[in-house]
Amino acid sequence: MTTTLKEIETQLQILQKEALSAIGETDTIDELEKLRINYLGKKGQLSEILRSMGKLSPEDRPLIGGVANEVKEEVQTQLESQRQHLQRVQIAAQLAAETLDVTMPGVSRHLGRVHPLNAMTDRIIDIFVGLGYTVASGPHIETDYYNFEALNTPPDHPARDMQDTFYLPGEKLLRTHTSSVQIRYMETHTPPIRIVAPGRVYRRDTVDATHSAVFHQLEILAVDRGLTFTQLKGTIQEFIRQIFGADLPLQFRASYFPFTEPSAEVDVQWQGKWLEVMGCGMVDPNVLEAVGYDPEIYTGFAAGLGIERFAMVLHQIDDIRRLYNSDLRFLRQF
Ligand code: DAH
Repeated sequence: MTTTLKEIETQLQILQKEALSAIGETDTIDELEKLRINYLGKKGQLSEILRSMGKLSPEDRPLIGGVANEVKEEVQTQLESQRQHLQRVQIAAQLAAETLDVTMPGVSRHLGRVHPLNAMTDRIIDIFVGLGYTVASGPHIETDYYNFEALNTPPDHPARDMQDTFYLPGEKLLRTHTSSVQIRYMETHTPPIRIVAPGRVYRRDTVDATHSAVFHQLEILAVDRGLTFTQLKGTIQEFIRQIFGADLPLQFRASYFPFTEPSAEVDVQWQGKWLEVMGCGMVDPNVLEAVGYDPEIYTGFAAGLGIERFAMVLHQIDDIRRLYNSDLRFLRQF
């Protein structure tokens, strides 16, 4: 079989026509690449046609070579322009799909926050930790011994009336103050002692704007050789200075607690008024003896404060019940 120049030229023209129209119909870059391989690849249609050039006379070959190059260039140009076209379409589709509407309302994520009572407890603890104290705790269900007797408050003692107690079956009671932790801690440790004991306490009080049957106290206890009332005053003064953020006038007003001697109430002058903020005193020798400490060697000072009281004064909260209601409109203000 002989192949003529004319035949090859025709084949090339058909190939070009087919290729250009097929390229124009592609929708993806993958399809386009398949066409490129099919027409221009090493084993593609163009190479196949050119292989038959071998059967031409030497004078005809360059002519066909020229035509073939033109066809190749045409097809390549068309491939390239279609490739650019498809790429633009692809990018446009991607942009449309990934459009971000910056005017849409955001998704708000509610942050939890620390309850004002816990925040106040943490602040008070931090101040005492800064003074070298550690944190201690004790049970809420107590015995008469830890809540009263070891704290120098025997059964017939009039001071028991100061705190109406919730009694439980089995000679148990709900602790009326955190002072019980003093005894538990001293029983299991030896001086020097510096602790704070925050926690919940319980009293048979009628609930009103300033009273709750369940509230929180923080107990302070230091026992060592040679502790004096002056050190108690200095400690409280430093605490008040830090918690109120100012050196406020202080008054140690003589008072009575069974477990301290002498005892005092601490008043702070705050925004023109004297506020009673805590009870304190030197640990009564009877209390030291109850835990097996020799009061001839050791002395101690103690204090107790109401955490709600501090939260209410410092945040100007008018009703203690707001601290327990879990009303988010209130809690979100802290
Ligand atoms: N326990 C007392 C109360 O609940 C508060 C108190 C007063 C604690 C004097 C003390 C203290 O440690 O020394 O009213």
